[in-house]
Amino acid sequence: MSDSTVVSNRDKTAVITGATSERGIGMAVAERYAQDGWAVVILDLDAARASQVAEAIGQKHGVAAFGTSVDVANEASVAEAYGAVHAEVEAGRIPTVGALANIAGITSPVPFLETSLDLWNKVMSVNATGTYLVTKAFLPGMLDAGWGRIVNMSSVSAQRGGGVFGKVPYSAAKAAILGFTKALAREIADSGVTINSVTPGAVDTNIRVGATPESEARLAADIPLGRVATTSEIAAVFSFLSSEEAAYLQGTNIDINGASHLH
Ligand SMILES: NC(=O)c1ccc[n+]([C@@H]2O[C@H](COP(=O)([O-])OP(=O)(O)OC[C@H]3O[C@@H](n4cnc5c(N)ncnc54)[C@H](O)[C@@H]3O)[C@@H](O)[C@H]2O)c1
Repeated sequence: MSDSTVVSNRDKTAVITGATSERGIGMAVAERYAQDGWAVVILDLDAARASQVAEAIGQKHGVAAFGTSVDVANEASVAEAYGAVHAEVEAGRIPTVGALANIAGITSPVPFLETSLDLWNKVMSVNATGTYLVTKAFLPGMLDAGWGRIVNMSSVSAQRGGGVFGKVPYSAAKAAILGFTKALAREIADSGVTINSVTPGAVDTNIRVGATPESEARLAADIPLGRVATTSEIAAVFSFLSSEEAAYLQGTNIDINGASHLH
């Protein structure tokens, strides 16, 4: 490969949605992108918090960073967030957007017959519609540039159902993300922009807070590797899928769940 075809992370910005939760996957992914040399944009519900997290990550890793608010489920809010990011790029404060990690998500920890239509719609909106809206906002710039990386957060719940915290709407929404990823991958296959997904099993985030030693033991017993994943293990997969070397992965899903998908 000639040098001219290598895209340096130093020249690009990675946008991460859902990245302000202290022990969350999104924050670990944002940290990893910054460590890899990407400038980072943090998009999450609270503007002040998004900005604070971006600043901290930018300072720690010596990269440009910007944070602002978005409700990924709301078209006007996504348009506004996109506009704010675009303005930062135009002003030369961050490079053009080369990667998008769609991580914002919510769960639905209630039995099916207790699932209200409101909860169903909310869970579908944040997880599935959010992935659609944010991708639709940032994809055109990547297509124009002829290079881009989109990584979507699904879950093993999409493949096996349920799981420890995800029930019916959550599993359905995460399965929608798999179909979305594959269909769009076909459509943009040879554009230079790749879109892939990941299906983690249980990950050590705040979702685990409140778990009892007994429930943790039951969970670990159900995972062939005998433990939940760390957020940095998930972040490493986002890093690889967003790299130049991952150019031949298109519409692929990576199971990162301690072999839970083999159960
Ligand atoms: N933790 C796990 O075990 C696990 C396993 C598989 C998949 N996942 C998925 O990984 C992602 C992150 O999970 P986590 O455990 O870090 O969760 P988390 O709750 O710690 O983080 C979710 C983030 O999304 C943000 N968010 C929620 N609704 C939003 C909206 N409408 N617009 C913008 N941002 C919004 C939250 O503010 C938060 O920062 C989720 O999509 C989750 O479904 C988690």
